Amino acid sequence: NHRPVVAGKRVLITAGPTQEAMDPVRYISNHSSGKMGYAIARTFAQAGADVTLVSGPVGLDAPDAAVRLVKVRSARQMLEASQEYFAASDLVVFAAAVADYAPSEVAEQKIKKHEGTFELNLTKTPDIALMLGRQKRAHQLLVGFALETENEQENARRKLESKNLDFIVLNSLNDPGAGFAYDTNKITVIDREGLIRHFELKKKEEVAQDILDIITEKWSEA
Ligand code: C5P
Repeated sequence: NHRPVVAGKRVLITAGPTQEAMDPVRYISNHSSGKMGYAIARTFAQAGADVTLVSGPVGLDAPDAAVRLVKVRSARQMLEASQEYFAASDLVVFAAAVADYAPSEVAEQKIKKHEGTFELNLTKTPDIALMLGRQKRAHQLLVGFALETENEQENARRKLESKNLDFIVLNSLNDPGAGFAYDTNKITVIDREGLIRHFELKKKEEVAQDILDIITEKWSEA
């Protein structure tokens, strides 16, 4: 029986940046392209998984006709959409670059410019991975991403613990060709047992396949 263990598994993926509005025309966001999350969605869908992709605003086409694409804008909306699919998920991959802070108030009208400085009050957004990690059930696998510029493995391992993840995928901005907007990425995957897997710089589609292989291996264990 060579039916892949991935077939029929329900997979929830967050991807892209979020945008946090300050008024009707402005927002706070980041440089995430969504490419890594979309590649993961496509790879799992093509392996037969039932994939839901909760995506912030990106300039990418839908990854695959078989993927259920839920478009959101803010961290709050991403949390709500993810909550909806979480309980039924066998695997969750938190690939989104969620904005850490949002304007404390959203002005109803466009904010006028004045002479001098302007102060913007920010409030922490919900940590989606942390909140869903607390609800994790025994059959569920959670995968997070960490983008670090220093103390990479130590910070990544701390995130794995605090967010109750099974794997954390570390990508470093120190590696040329890795990270935002590039079509390539160089990852290190750390699991709960402290096993560290290093991978070469490769196309994001191939990185997604490596992640699929790790998850497949994990599902094949029991
Ligand atoms: O703490 P940090 O933002 O570095 O953690 C990164 C991981 O947590 C990523 O998997 C990211 O998708 C997830 N995350 C989240 N919600 C947030 C912040 C991060 O789901 N508000």
